[in-house]
Amino acid sequence: MKPSQSKISLVMGSQSDWSTLKHTSNILKKLNINHEKKIISAHRTPRRLYEFAEKAYENKIKIIIAGAGGSAHLPGMIAAISHIPVIGVPIESKSLKGLDSLLSIVQMPFGIPVGTVAIGETGAKNAALYAASILSIYDKDLEKRLIKWRLSQTKKVKKNPK
Ligand code: RP5
Repeated sequence: MKPSQSKISLVMGSQSDWSTLKHTSNILKKLNINHEKKIISAHRTPRRLYEFAEKAYENKIKIIIAGAGGSAHLPGMIAAISHIPVIGVPIESKSLKGLDSLLSIVQMPFGIPVGTVAIGETGAKNAALYAASILSIYDKDLEKRLIKWRLSQTKKVKKNPK
């Protein structure tokens, strides 16, 4: 199976986000999509954030999936620096169950969009599928793999409950 030429960057605000974003990575792997993984904190490592976002285009990154929790500025700040599409994953926080993360990511001002998915594991998985869907526009092999994945999901749904 030929891997996708397009590269996705999966970035997260903390090591603690990996337990959620590993689900993104797993689906990207299943779809044979190249992706790198990085920890970049908007607050704790702001220089790392700037360097990453400024070089993402020349590093041939096509889509950035950014997960962060709490006062989640990572996806929005990356989108502020780079024109590459950013998908934001709100991590489920302990105190507010991820509502803080969701609102921080989704409420971007006009001009700097971030495509935002659901809180937690569901959003993490959908971020991978959404990125795959975007990349499949220009990648016929990936398109076939994505359609196959969706068909297999459909087949798993039983007609009647047990
Ligand atoms: C955010 O703060 C991270 O994205 C993480 O979700 C949250 C908590 O980080 P840790 O204190 O677990 O490192 O920046």
